[in-house]
Amino acid sequence: MKVTVVGAGNVGATVANVLATKGFASEVVLIDIKEGLSEGKAMDIMQTSHMLNFDTTVIGVTNDYAATAGSQVVVVTSGIPRKPGMTREQLIGTNAKIVKSVVDQILANSPDAILIIVSNPMDAMTYLTLKDTKLPRNRIIGQGGMLDSSRFRYYLAQALQEAGYPATPTDIDGMVIGGHADKTMVPLVSLATYRGIPVTQLLSEEAIQKAVEATKVGGATCTKLLGTSAWYAPGAAAAALVEAIALDAKKLIPCCVYLDGEYGEKDLCIGVPVILGKDGVEKIVEVQFSDAEKAKFQESIAAAREVNSKLAEALA
Ligand code: LAC
Repeated sequence: MKVTVVGAGNVGATVANVLATKGFASEVVLIDIKEGLSEGKAMDIMQTSHMLNFDTTVIGVTNDYAATAGSQVVVVTSGIPRKPGMTREQLIGTNAKIVKSVVDQILANSPDAILIIVSNPMDAMTYLTLKDTKLPRNRIIGQGGMLDSSRFRYYLAQALQEAGYPATPTDIDGMVIGGHADKTMVPLVSLATYRGIPVTQLLSEEAIQKAVEATKVGGATCTKLLGTSAWYAPGAAAAALVEAIALDAKKLIPCCVYLDGEYGEKDLCIGVPVILGKDGVEKIVEVQFSDAEKAKFQESIAAAREVNSKLAEALA
């Protein structure tokens, strides 16, 4: 399996690094426009191969799309990250043009690739890619829900610890749907469990709300601390999607996908639970959640449509 990661910034390099350490890909190509960046990061990663015991070959190239030819999965992280105080939506003017150009060059060399879109504002970038390429929707997947769900598990584990339960994030099952946006993502409290026990049985309403709010601004909190956006969790999240596809694992993961009637919606890309396997999105899973969560999901959909409406202007 050959995987390409476009963008050798913090997130892209982390995707390549996690993929290498997981070892299921034979080759990972890291490509960037900045001379030497991909080559240097690929070299650095390869020099961990003996210590971390992996046989994946990581290759770095500058703008050489021919080197990406024949990739089965491509992760697009290109574009600028946000700075403290910025929303993801504010990146649309710069990133829309970059993502469109990258995707066109990728498909010219790997026409059968499954695309994982990470660049922000991710839901709009996923929608743009779908509209621009006219590829079947199973091959275009936005990464947001995996990351946001992982943050939700982290904050719920913290809340449980504060309430006297020795929980770690791996003890928690929880899912975030909707847009990958601070105000409007939807952590599904009604479906969250601690080893099968609904968290609502163990945590106060106040503690749950604190975890929900912390999840929603999870990216912004890291950005404030780091001066740029996060990379370990976003990178690991994208690598997890590649893994589910590469291993045909058929895992249930919330991802940003094009809806065509599911959840009563059409013509937008938004986070919902899907089954990921060798064909990319193999099924969109429609689940029941609470009325309050349904209302929040509707708000999230409206917000995503609003960002999509700015795409034409961003590309002009
Ligand atoms: C985050 C950015 C990368 O959530 O979207 O950290």
